Amino acid sequence: MEKEQLRELLNRMTLDEKLGQLTQLTGEHFAGKIDDEMVETGPAMEDLDLSEEQVGTVGSVLGSSSAKVINLIQEKYLERSRLKIPLLFMHDAIHGYRTIFPIPLGLSCSWDSEIVKKVAAYTATELRAAGIQVNFSPMTDLVRDSRWGRVMEAFGEDHILSGRLGKAMIDGYQKEVNGRIGEHGVAACLKHFAAYGAVHAGKDYASVDMSLREFFGYYARPYEIALEAKPRMVMSSFNSFNGEPVTASKYLLKEVLRDKFQFEGIVISDWGAVAEIKSAGVAENDKEAATEAFKAGVDIEMVSSNYLRHGADIVNASEELQTWLDAAVLRILTLKNNLGLFENPYVNEEEEAVLLRSEEAIAFAKQAAVESCVLLKNEKVLPINASVKNILILGPFAKTKELMGGWSCKGRFEETISLEEGIRTTFQAAKVNAYEKLEECPADLYEKADIILLTIGEPWYQSGEGHSSTNIELAAEQQELVREVKKSGKNFACIGFSGRPLALESVIEDIPALLWCWYLGNCAGTAVAELISGAATPSGKLTMSFPRVTGQTPLYYNEYRSGKPANDSSYSSRYQDCEIGPLYSFGHGLSYADIEYSNIQLSAATITEQRTVQLSMEITNNSEYDTKETVILYMDDPVSKNVRPVKEMLDYQRITLPPYTKKKVVFDIKAEDMKYINNQLEKVLEPGEINLYLNDGKTPIGKLIYVS
Ligand code: GLC
Repeated sequence: MEKEQLRELLNRMTLDEKLGQLTQLTGEHFAGKIDDEMVETGPAMEDLDLSEEQVGTVGSVLGSSSAKVINLIQEKYLERSRLKIPLLFMHDAIHGYRTIFPIPLGLSCSWDSEIVKKVAAYTATELRAAGIQVNFSPMTDLVRDSRWGRVMEAFGEDHILSGRLGKAMIDGYQKEVNGRIGEHGVAACLKHFAAYGAVHAGKDYASVDMSLREFFGYYARPYEIALEAKPRMVMSSFNSFNGEPVTASKYLLKEVLRDKFQFEGIVISDWGAVAEIKSAGVAENDKEAATEAFKAGVDIEMVSSNYLRHGADIVNASEELQTWLDAAVLRILTLKNNLGLFENPYVNEEEEAVLLRSEEAIAFAKQAAVESCVLLKNEKVLPINASVKNILILGPFAKTKELMGGWSCKGRFEETISLEEGIRTTFQAAKVNAYEKLEECPADLYEKADIILLTIGEPWYQSGEGHSSTNIELAAEQQELVREVKKSGKNFACIGFSGRPLALESVIEDIPALLWCWYLGNCAGTAVAELISGAATPSGKLTMSFPRVTGQTPLYYNEYRSGKPANDSSYSSRYQDCEIGPLYSFGHGLSYADIEYSNIQLSAATITEQRTVQLSMEITNNSEYDTKETVILYMDDPVSKNVRPVKEMLDYQRITLPPYTKKKVVFDIKAEDMKYINNQLEKVLEPGEINLYLNDGKTPIGKLIYVS
């Protein structure tokens, strides 16, 4: 349809039909329970308090999937629709739809926008083939507290990395061609705006309070960077922000998101969040809640019915809201038009079977899994020699196929390669045995084992939404298992699985080698086996710090300076019962390859607004391992008007490093990137020294003098 036709359509709509477009329900309300695909996921009809006629005006559906089901819902809906405006279908496929890739926190440890973009592109192809046109992804909430279960969905504790990977994911989903969503593309919904990752004490759905300096300097930045990729939708978050429920916050959703960040797309609430304005105590009743959300600029109410039930009264009382309503409806009609739904609201059921779980997608899922793993420790145990005869896999994740991770959409456990299966396939000449409990393993097998792969971590269902934890230590029985194996003197390595960083100080001294694998999707076992065997070398680097103990959280690498910097004295910024700093820091990750940095040079000693400075270096792979290297450039600003972090990432680059090769890497350093947001909310940099560091952030590689 042309733009004028959309406006004509809008002008023919009744008020109820307009309010319907602003409402989203789950699929069972439109076609009943068709088959196993149609599980009761949303509120019951009586709870919605809507008439059949009102349901017939609803504009979009979430949570339904498969071409057959979606075509049936669409068909039944359009039969009753007066103006034949097609439904829009939305879903959560945050790391794959039927082919499941590593969880986003795992993917982020690849530091590779191309990998993230390709994961999104494969996901979009499968979603579109299954009839879904909008994906509630990426989540670019900045996360610093691994007690919060949703860190698994995020890209870690750095605002620049989170933003860049979010931007890559949006590009991958939308596959834009001339400003339109491409073929096999889906509209991306950036979430959760805003600062949901900063919930108080890591407790899900809790309040968020912070200075606007902290917000614009850190928590808002990932959304701001990701918005450059023009996601078609943004989701308002469950939390309150400085005293306002975000879904009722005109400041965040209009002044910041639309005016400051220039977002022109659709704002959708999170599940029931419009109704929850009342339970947050900021509205007396549903009508007031709807009014607050209307005024804040929420275009679509997800899975509650306040707009439909009270919207007419609200809108009729306000010219301004009538204008906003038409603008909101036009945004929704425009997205449906941009997706081609008016021309063809149905999906090709034959194509679905061909496009789901393609060999190419599965092969890439394995590659992405390989690059998501992080080698945290290795006292010359890994990789395992190919001539090994007896491999024993122990622990809770030795045999399980439940290695996809949370929010795994339509992924299937039976299609997931377990660690046992992966090791058997990779070490064909070895005898491989696997036991979840040490006591189940016959003593002679234990004795004969040349290497023990000891699995530790937390089950996938202990992270994700609604899974905040007061304790992120390793389970006591796992700590015991590590000590038992250590005591036996056997050669062993630990393989870790989790949706969040865990506190490992209790066991780390007893562990000679530790590969952290997060949750890797369908190809978990294959990817881990390739890394264990040396067929691939670990190249991941942590994007979220690992604490020593739970009590250190929230914990992040770029904490603000203290006037009493942490040192051996108890009268310094530290805990009396814990060593200083994380167990493993943001940016940490080992490799099998011997990688050498040399010839590090700065093109100038001073930097100005007008002149960038080049930092160049040579990086050599002195080994037979084919690997990739993430080069991280940090800065610290030793003297500034506002307190700044002890260090912060300026930039990073990801390079391939084939065996015995050398590459030159050049960073263009701009003064603009060294600035910070001060408490007047200005972006500033005071004249003076800026220290530069590479990778571990401890070894200075030089300094620049900023001359304003
Ligand atoms: C959930 C989540 C959000 C998700 C939405 C739809 O409550 O907070 O991330 O996209 O509901 O499933």
